[in-house]
Amino acid sequence: MAETPSSSPLLTRRPEWTALADHRAEGQPTLRELFAADPERAERYVVRVGDLLIDYSKNLITDETLALLRELAAATDVFGLRDAMFRGERINVTEDRAVLHTALRAPRDAVIEVDGENVVPGVHAVLDKMAHFADRVRSGAWTGHTGKRIRNVVNIGIGGSDLGPAMAYEALRPYTARDLTFRFVSNVDGADLHEAVRDLDPAETLFIVASKTFTTIETITNATSARAWLLAGLDGEEKAVASHFVALSTNAGKVTEFGIDPENMFEFWDWVGGRYSYDSAIGLSLMIAIGPDRFREMLDGFHLVDEHFRTAPAEANAPLILGLLGIWYGGFLGAQSHAVLPYSHYLSKFTAYLQQLDMESNGKSVDRNGHPVDWQTGPVVWGTPGTNGQHAYYQLIHQGTKLIPADFIGFARPVDEMSDRLKAQHDLLMANFFAQTQALAFGKTADEVRAEGVSEAQVPHRTFRGNHPTTTILATELTPSVLGQLVALYEHKVFVQGAVWNIDSFDQWGVELGKVLAKRVEPALTKGADVPGLDASTAALVSAYRQIGK
Ligand code: F6P
Repeated sequence: MAETPSSSPLLTRRPEWTALADHRAEGQPTLRELFAADPERAERYVVRVGDLLIDYSKNLITDETLALLRELAAATDVFGLRDAMFRGERINVTEDRAVLHTALRAPRDAVIEVDGENVVPGVHAVLDKMAHFADRVRSGAWTGHTGKRIRNVVNIGIGGSDLGPAMAYEALRPYTARDLTFRFVSNVDGADLHEAVRDLDPAETLFIVASKTFTTIETITNATSARAWLLAGLDGEEKAVASHFVALSTNAGKVTEFGIDPENMFEFWDWVGGRYSYDSAIGLSLMIAIGPDRFREMLDGFHLVDEHFRTAPAEANAPLILGLLGIWYGGFLGAQSHAVLPYSHYLSKFTAYLQQLDMESNGKSVDRNGHPVDWQTGPVVWGTPGTNGQHAYYQLIHQGTKLIPADFIGFARPVDEMSDRLKAQHDLLMANFFAQTQALAFGKTADEVRAEGVSEAQVPHRTFRGNHPTTTILATELTPSVLGQLVALYEHKVFVQGAVWNIDSFDQWGVELGKVLAKRVEPALTKGADVPGLDASTAALVSAYRQIGK
């Protein structure tokens, strides 16, 4: 049974935490020393899950570090909380909600209850409804108001209602219907919608309004503007909205209020967090792009890792291991950030997606009991695809002063669709992938530099300290299933860290204040209204904005 928040001692007072701090104080061997001392390290520190091979041998850990970290996980009852999550208990304490994204990819015959009701049939009913609709759009059976075939799909949403489908669409492009155009609009900056629709024919365009709450100002504003654009292009025919707008939401009332027929609404539930939602109805644009069968393959990939997380022992549990590595770096070695560096151009939005998943989940500074934490919580997550980053910011990772643990994600095979010539470039891409983790781990000593005949003055500049930790995730190929596996791996890693840190990884109160203040400031910009309570700096900036903008 998961410990109740009130019964859990502060993390840093736990003996298991102190043991890790003592272990840290003893000093750690370098990666060079660790590999030299243990010829089997490369084989021992590997875990395989589905199509993923996860090599964590190039991390700053020993068997003792891992054992102590696992003891911390046991003491903080990570697996107890995990089981409570899978059982549908209300582990999102501040919102009093269950956390059941794992039910979204459960097989049809699974039974998962929330408040005594099995939610799985509802999940599959929505998936079936989505599949029916996606097939009709893909085949041309669903037409626009004038009878023209839908050629363009524009998803309007933000945060979890945008990043997931946008990332997965990019990731799975080779699997998408190439005769359809997909765009993703999120920003309330009118430029986003402007650029998304400027070359589209309204008669051929379907808008998918994605919003869990259906109250998010950016999404409702953009959807209202999209509606105006559509009507302007279709002689103001209000009836056209029914064929060109569908909604993805938990809020049927607000969807109806907006003017979308509830028949054209695909629902999900309050036990699906926004950043955990792209395998729910929020994935409709993706399903239209890749088709229902491929979407189901992706769900199976998620489920495979769910089952691994649920059942694998601690020593071989990939999300647990990855989560604990992050606890070690943040809590004991002073790392502030974590780089995720995919060596696949198709994963260009993967790290941005992970930023919300990780930073909105674990960017907290009070524990589940409301007590301030005195330990580091979630890191800054960042990164872009290799090899581009190598020619930009890798310098700082190699020779800067900061500890930046990094995940390198690569694939054994390029996508099949490319020409043979372009496929042949894959080996060069992957040569860089392997070279970087090698250089980061083992560096180049001053003596090695000298041996190359470099002048003494240049030696310090050309020396690589090495000992930079990386984890390598090598997958077969970027298929829908593999994408699901990768996302689930990170979802559960984030879960593990939140559990150890004893924070609520499933709320996001930190985004509220900015929303409230924006509402308050807006009349000052639009109408020049006096806004009571504006601080002096902001008031002066608002006044300058109005002056300059005249
Ligand atoms: O403001 C943050 C947030 O609530 C995210 O958690 C969420 O993914 C996003 O806004 C969008 O919310 P909605 O899907 O309700 O429009």
